[in-house]
Amino acid sequence: MKDRLVIRGGKALQGEVRVSGSKNSAVAVLAAALLCDGVCIVENLPMIEDVCILKAMMEALGAQVELREGAVHVDATGVCCHHAPLELVRQMRASNYLIGALLGRLGKAQVGIPGGCDIGTRPMDLHEKGLRALGANIRLSRGEYVCVANQLTGAEIYLDQASVGASINIMLAACKAKGRTTIVNAAREPHVVDVANFLNSMGASIKGAGTDTIRINGVPRLHGSTYSILPDMIETGTWMAIAAATQGDITIRDCVPYHMESVSAKLMEMGMYVEEGEDYLRVKGTGRPHAISISTMYYPGFPTDLQQPFAVLLSVADGSSVITENIYESRYKYIDELRRMGAKVRVVDRIAMIDGVDALWGTAVSATDLRAGAALIVAGLMADGTTTISNVKYIDRGYERIEKKLQVLGADITRITE
Ligand code: EPU
Repeated sequence: MKDRLVIRGGKALQGEVRVSGSKNSAVAVLAAALLCDGVCIVENLPMIEDVCILKAMMEALGAQVELREGAVHVDATGVCCHHAPLELVRQMRASNYLIGALLGRLGKAQVGIPGGCDIGTRPMDLHEKGLRALGANIRLSRGEYVCVANQLTGAEIYLDQASVGASINIMLAACKAKGRTTIVNAAREPHVVDVANFLNSMGASIKGAGTDTIRINGVPRLHGSTYSILPDMIETGTWMAIAAATQGDITIRDCVPYHMESVSAKLMEMGMYVEEGEDYLRVKGTGRPHAISISTMYYPGFPTDLQQPFAVLLSVADGSSVITENIYESRYKYIDELRRMGAKVRVVDRIAMIDGVDALWGTAVSATDLRAGAALIVAGLMADGTTTISNVKYIDRGYERIEKKLQVLGADITRITE
């Protein structure tokens, strides 16, 4: 389907919105469910395109996956196939988790080089290094990783970068390995902790998730469990940007304010009002944002996945702002689209220099990836006139019914399905 979103901008959005379960957690937790030969019930699952693609891959491997309103029942008893369907693998980065999960479950995996958003080179060297250290034999054949391990054995693994994907993939394989695995310089993102908590709820023994050293004592088998996915921090940050950009007043419910500290701090630097409750955040626009600088970092730094929506906000700031993208080398593809809407941005390597303009104007633009799509929604909501966003399929990969949630807050947005 070639859907488009049509936004008539200029409305201050107001009211309450509930954050869905975390995309980046959900795709790893579902893959982790393959490790147990029983039934797992995963609640608070976001109903997004990436979850549907993963469901199809898991079914092709022999699992029974049933989606019921907000929860998924995974019966992985029948998992016997180790070859993931290539055409589906290529559609998302998180298909890489099938390697760790299948190695842990069957001792073998054949999974293509994963696809996903085109935001820069996305190497797999740290995944390979970690899984090899655990004893897996890995070779690349015709674009697919062919992996075999007769016996996975614990090891100490140092990650050259605190990669979310490599940390999770190694945890998946290591929780059924013989002996102890230590991941040094592990990623500390909340979704890494969520996956460790889920694995522990299945009987795994993982300590230290959320710090830079994760220790895993292998266990022979994992049992079924019921688990609820944590709220999506990137969706939360997107609503925060929308509240500020539209001069609105939005209360974001069922989020984890503690995960958003870098984002709240930056909004306050821009002069916005941010109120933190135990499980909610209220963000209120207070006029034109002050120009600031943002540098993306690993958690707890400012997330790369919110760089784009915040660049939009800064495009109308009262001066010149600088963004430094430290995680991905080409996450600025959306800037050309933003320029069509009147933004003044120059990009040199990983740095974007943004000169604030008085206002953006609506026009036809195209999402180049998931978060770029979210950024264009923010831009459309604050622009004068009508913005039409094509390539909505990218946005649907990570945001659940975004236009429905926006309509409740008073946005004039419609989806056109051709
Ligand atoms: N890296 C390597 N070698 C590797 C793996 C990663 O050099 O083997 C580098 C990457 O090139 C990058 C950095 O390490 O510079 C971080 O990459 P990471 O592995 O952490 O990213 P990922 O696991 O592929 C996840 C999210 C991304 C998010 C990043 C960073 C999922 C499914 N994806 O990707 O989410 O941007 O972490 O936080 O969890 C999104 O949601 O829009 C999205 C792209």
